[in-house]
Amino acid sequence: MEIRVLAIQGSPRKGGNTDLLLEEAIRGAREEGASVQKVVLVDLQISPCLELYACRKEGICAIRDDMTPLYDAMDLCPRMILASPVFFYSVSATAKAFIDRAQARWCRRYLLKRSIDSPVERRGGFIAVGATKGSQLFEGARLTVRYFFDAIEMVYAEELLVRGVDQKGEILRHPQFLREAFELGRRIARP
Ligand SMILES: Cc1cc2nc3c(=O)[nH]c(=O)nc-3n(C[C@H](O)[C@H](O)[C@H](O)COP(=O)(O)O)c2cc1C
Repeated sequence: MEIRVLAIQGSPRKGGNTDLLLEEAIRGAREEGASVQKVVLVDLQISPCLELYACRKEGICAIRDDMTPLYDAMDLCPRMILASPVFFYSVSATAKAFIDRAQARWCRRYLLKRSIDSPVERRGGFIAVGATKGSQLFEGARLTVRYFFDAIEMVYAEELLVRGVDQKGEILRHPQFLREAFELGRRIARP
């Protein structure tokens, strides 16, 4: 059975560290036989959540924009790789707008008690990059992503968190992290 993976690129810097790591993860997932849809959030118009709360009634967001087709994609793909740089100890605003719009899925799961009927386990992996080296660098982003995955009925199954990488493309000087991203992609794509 072909596993479908949604790969979310949450950095505004195309070809930057997050993007390069995600590309390796995608390569790994494809090598494992998965079909991968890459979504570059910065190319999309995704409004922040406006707290209209229409989602409380039907689990559907009232805002119609580039997020709209991604709801179905999230339901249909049992695997996700979400990649973001650390911005002020959280994910990028680009990624956060996407995550906040998943409140519609939180409502569907927890208020309306509806769940996704998936033939395979739903699992998510998180890739993050930050410039500094503090021990708590990824704490905020990890919590955000853990509860995002929970809202879309995925287990937080994998993470690759890379410290000390700042300049565009600097990650290329760390082939071990590129290899780790590749392996993360392979694991996330396995049934
Ligand atoms: C707005 C902004 C906020 C940032 N905040 C942090 C931070 O809190 N901690 C940190 O270590 N690096 C921070 N950085 C640095 C980025 O995480 C780092 O440059 C990363 O490599 C960028 O990844 P990218 O090339 O995928 O965009 C910040 C960068 C920007 C532009």
